[in-house]
Parts: sequence; structure tokens; C-alpha cells
Amino acid sequence: MKNFFKLSALSLVISLVACSEVPETASNSVEAVDKTPIKELSATVKIEAGKDYHSYANPEEILITHLNLDLTADFEAKKLIGSVQVTVDRQQDDANELVLDTRDLAISSVTSNGEEIVFELKPADENLGAALHIILPENANKATINYETSPSASGAQWLTPAQTAGKKHPFLFTQAQAVHARSFIPLQDSPQVRVTYSATIRTPKELIAVMSASNEPDTERDGVYKFDMPQPIPSYLIALAIGDLQFKSMGERTGVYAEPSVLASAAAEFEDTESMLIATENKYGPYSWDRYDLLILPPSFPFGGMENPRLSFITPTVIAGDKSLVALIAHELAHSWSGNTVTNATWRDLWLNEGFTTYLTYRIMEMIYGEGRFNMEAVLGYQDLQSDIKSLDANDQILAIDLRGRNPDDVFSNIPYEKGALFLREIEHKIGRENFDQFLVEYFEHFSFKSITTDQFITYLDETLLTQYADKLDKKRITEWIFEPGIPEGAPVPESDAFVKVDSARDLWLAGGTKASDIETADWAFHQWLYFLNNMPEKLNAEQLAELDSAFLLTSSKNNEIAHSWLMIAVKNEYKPAYERLYDYLTSIGRNKLVKPLYRELSKTPQGKAFAKKAFDQAKSGYHPLTVSANEGYVQ
Ligand code: BES
Ligand code: ZN
Repeated sequence: MKNFFKLSALSLVISLVACSEVPETASNSVEAVDKTPIKELSATVKIEAGKDYHSYANPEEILITHLNLDLTADFEAKKLIGSVQVTVDRQQDDANELVLDTRDLAISSVTSNGEEIVFELKPADENLGAALHIILPENANKATINYETSPSASGAQWLTPAQTAGKKHPFLFTQAQAVHARSFIPLQDSPQVRVTYSATIRTPKELIAVMSASNEPDTERDGVYKFDMPQPIPSYLIALAIGDLQFKSMGERTGVYAEPSVLASAAAEFEDTESMLIATENKYGPYSWDRYDLLILPPSFPFGGMENPRLSFITPTVIAGDKSLVALIAHELAHSWSGNTVTNATWRDLWLNEGFTTYLTYRIMEMIYGEGRFNMEAVLGYQDLQSDIKSLDANDQILAIDLRGRNPDDVFSNIPYEKGALFLREIEHKIGRENFDQFLVEYFEHFSFKSITTDQFITYLDETLLTQYADKLDKKRITEWIFEPGIPEGAPVPESDAFVKVDSARDLWLAGGTKASDIETADWAFHQWLYFLNNMPEKLNAEQLAELDSAFLLTSSKNNEIAHSWLMIAVKNEYKPAYERLYDYLTSIGRNKLVKPLYRELSKTPQGKAFAKKAFDQAKSGYHPLTVSANEGYVQ
């Protein structure tokens, strides 16, 4: 057995924990970390499929099956304070040492059957946090950890009233994927471990709590909210938000939670959610999660969306007024099948979540809005992929990526998304759409409520499509897609008729053959505008920029994606009339995908960097921890 604190030393742990906000090294003096640095291993040691290099937990010995949370949200202190009771299932009869993941948690005590038991918090690793070791009494199958979170928890953002739409009440939301659940709950933070959970959340009376669980839209505002998630989910899907929220139904199984001033516009923008749910279910098999609601977050939400089961978390930056950005909803909904029902076993396998989901997103968009939109979105996605392939190291272009020693947040790219989807599209083209759809239905059914590795996927392909369609598919090609960088030669290349005229118009204008204001744009869809801007040459001159801006009012575009594209052009060409808008954009939006490319581009010149620093310094206190860490390097 390892070198644990004797019970007499427990009070020392408690006092150390109590006086420190970041107590991860509380037990430094007792035992040194015994893990060889993963960075050194990765160069020489073969990666083990299915091994979670981003968790200290020991589910193969003792598995957590249920969590019971009791947490109070203290908005003054910016802390969640309370307890989690874990129910365990011993996988090995003699196993008594339970290892959990934590990050920046203050653990005050651990009890089992009402008695305090021994625990030890190991020194923290920058990416992984600190392992919490607990000795369970023999025969005990429950332990309760009393703890509080840090105000700077990487997986929670505490917003002041000024950072919300209503400006009157504070707001809290969590974002657990990939490895941040451990910063607000001590647990086995690995996508291989599925738990059911129940929760009691205590809030100021005027606020409402919602979770990735059973929510009650008509609940009384009494400051105590109870939840149940009866289906087993991986830890990265545990989610909580607290704010001045209201609910509006959008259909039998769909609705939206948002701050009052955002509710109506969100419900209108996303009114097709119910049809998307029905169409996806008809195509890919039953929806397993009962309700599908959306939660609209304040603009600092660092992602476009997060597929928290039963309640996707959504950025308000996609409420464009014309449904032009609702592919995001199709995407988060699609995760109900690919991701939440069939889950990646490790972060190396993320492409199984995101690639399948991106493939499904395109298909859902086609079912709801037609082939024209499908083609345009496929071309735009393909262009995003190509630009990443140009800029990423070869290793980061591999679907089954080696993330040992790295923080999964640092490796976010279009590869798992668009390359994953293109791979599946190639299979679809080779064996026929209906056959591939049939395969997907069976795949979701076969692995339902399981976490799977890339290797398990390949074995399954071997047993199914590679046998059934031996004349059309080839194993070597499959492994090239999954294990080699780049896009395999001969891969499908998406095309859209609707972009042909956009290319002609752009070419003619660039050649001086027409004025911008004479281009026939009255019937252009959002996607055509985006394509028009995204494919401008790197350098435009001041007259050209001014002409585009005055013809199309780009600087004042209310569509956040169009504005993003235009501001990228403005930065690349130092088009100063757009800089006030740029400043406003950077300081009012925290969605990393929209701000990071701008910071990166600005950081390339000294003046740009100074401007970026000014915006960043002002925005920083309102950015989510992920957005801060993703961008601070550009302004230093
Ligand atoms: N699950 C992801 C977000 C995520 C991925 C968080 C990996 C942390 C680690 C979510 O479903 C997603 O893909 N969001 C995208 C949506 C877009 C591709 C439509 C986003 O936020 O931009
Ligand atoms: Zn996704």
C-alpha cells in the first residue's frame, strides 16, 4: 500500500486545505509523484489504445457508478461549496484505494458511513490537476467528499451582473469538456467512466439552476433545485448553470432557457430544433435522452455550443436573426447520438465524437434546409479544413492524435471535425448513402451507452462494412485516413453551384471590371457572403477595402461570422476604419473560435499587438479561463 497519512495527520491536511485556495500540493512533503513525465515517454513508448493519459483515476480497480451532489453556489466568494457522495463498484475484490481527479479543489474531509476516512491530495500537474487518493473501508461502497471550488476553477465561470444580458443578476456556468469537470467535482474524470447522478443545488432565491439532467421549466424560485440524470454519462457531460433564466417551449420535446431579454429571439432563431430532432431520430434511430432543450449563455461562453445531455449550452453569438448559423444547433443535437450515446473512450479518439457529429450535422442541415445549403456548408467546412492542414504540424493532422503530455484544449482544430466528416463522406460515397445510413443506425445501437476507442471502431468496421463491401472499401485506405496526416489523395471535394457566381463576381471586381456596388448581391445567402469574404486575396488596398465597406456595410454587420471574416481582412490589411468595431468585438465576445484568429493575426505586427493587448486587458476579467489561456500568449 502507498504511503498514506496516518489518521493523526488528517487535521494537518484539513488546516492546510482550509488556509489555501489552491491546496493541490498539500501533501508534497509526504510523497513525491511517482509518474514518469508523460512528455518524455511519448517520444519512445508506443501509445496504448484505450489508456486515458488525461486522468489519474483507477476505474479498472474501483469504478464510480453514481454521484450525488449537494452544492451551494456562493456568488460572493465565487465558489461551489458542499459535497459529492460517490457510489463505487469494486472491479477487483481487494481494491480499497480509490483515485479521483481534482483540480484546484479544497478538500475539507472525506467520510464513509459517517466516519472520517483517510485521504491524500497529490501534487498537481499543470494539465491534469491533482490525484485524490482515498482509502475506502472494506465493504464500504460509498464515500462523501466535502469540498469547495476555487474562484478561478478552469471549468466554471462566475459572471458579474454587468456581464449578463439583463445586467441585474450574476450568472454561473460550467464547461467540463475535456478535462475540467475535476475543477468543480472530485471524480473519475475520464470519458471511459459513465455515471448516473443526482444533485441538490442551492442558489440565491431569485435565480434558477439548470443541469444536464431532468429540468423542470415551471419550478418555483425557492433557491433549492433538485436534479436527476438516470442515464449513465461521462464526466465531461456534467453541467450546471445558474442565472435569471426563463423557459420557452419550442415543441413537444424542445424548448429554450435564456435570460428574459434573449428568450424570444432565441426561440424564434432556433424554432426548427424540434424538426431537427424528429428528422435525426427518423434517420439514425431513437433519441435516448427524453427532452432536448437549449440554454443560451452570456457572450463569454468560450465555445459555440456544448452538447450537455438534455440541455445543450449555446453561445448567443449565433442568434443572427435569419437562422444562418443554426448548423450549430444541428451539431449539438447530433452529439446526442455521436458523443453522448456512443462516446470517445479517450481524448485521442475525439474524432469519433466530432467527426461523426460533423458528418451528421451536414446531413441534418440537408434534411431541414435542402441540398443547396448542404453543399455550401460542406464547401466552407472543407476550406476550413484545408487552411488547418496548411498550418498544423503533421502530427496534429492525424485523426487518432497522440495527446500524451499535452492539454487537449491546446490541440483544438478542424481535423477531428472536418477531416473526420470527410472520411465518413468518402465511405458513404463508396458504398451508397442508404447503406451507410443503415450502418450508422446499427453502429449507434451496437455501442449505445458505451465509450469506444478508435481501434474498437476499426475492428467493428472490419466485421461490418469491410466484409460486406469488400469490393468497394479497403482497410489500407481506412488506416491511411485515421493514422496519416493530411487528406488522402482522391478524397471527396465538396462543390456548390451557388458559389460559382460569387467567385465570378469577386474575380471581376478584383480585376477592376465592376464596382462593388454593382455586384448583384440581393439574393445572396449568408454562406455566399462568407465565401465571398473568406476567399479574398491576402492583400487588398485601402480603396478596395473602403469600397467593399461602403457598398456592403461590412464593418457594421450584425452577423458575427461575417463580422469575423471582415475583421480578419481588416487586420491583415490594417484597415483602420474597422478598428473601433474590432475593439468592440474583442471586448464583447468570449467565444474562442471568433476571437482567437483575430488576436493571432493582430499579434503579427507591433502596432497590432499593442492594440490586441489593450483589448485583451480590458476584456480579460470577463473572458472565460479557457479564452484567457488560449489568447494571452498573443499579447505578451
Ligand atoms: N463538444 C464540442 C466542444 C468541445 C470540444 C469542447 C472539445 C471541449 C473540447 C462542441 O460540440 C463543438 O464542437 N462545438 C463547436 C461547434 C461547431 C463545430 C458547430 C464550437 O463550439 O465551435
Ligand atoms: Zn461537437
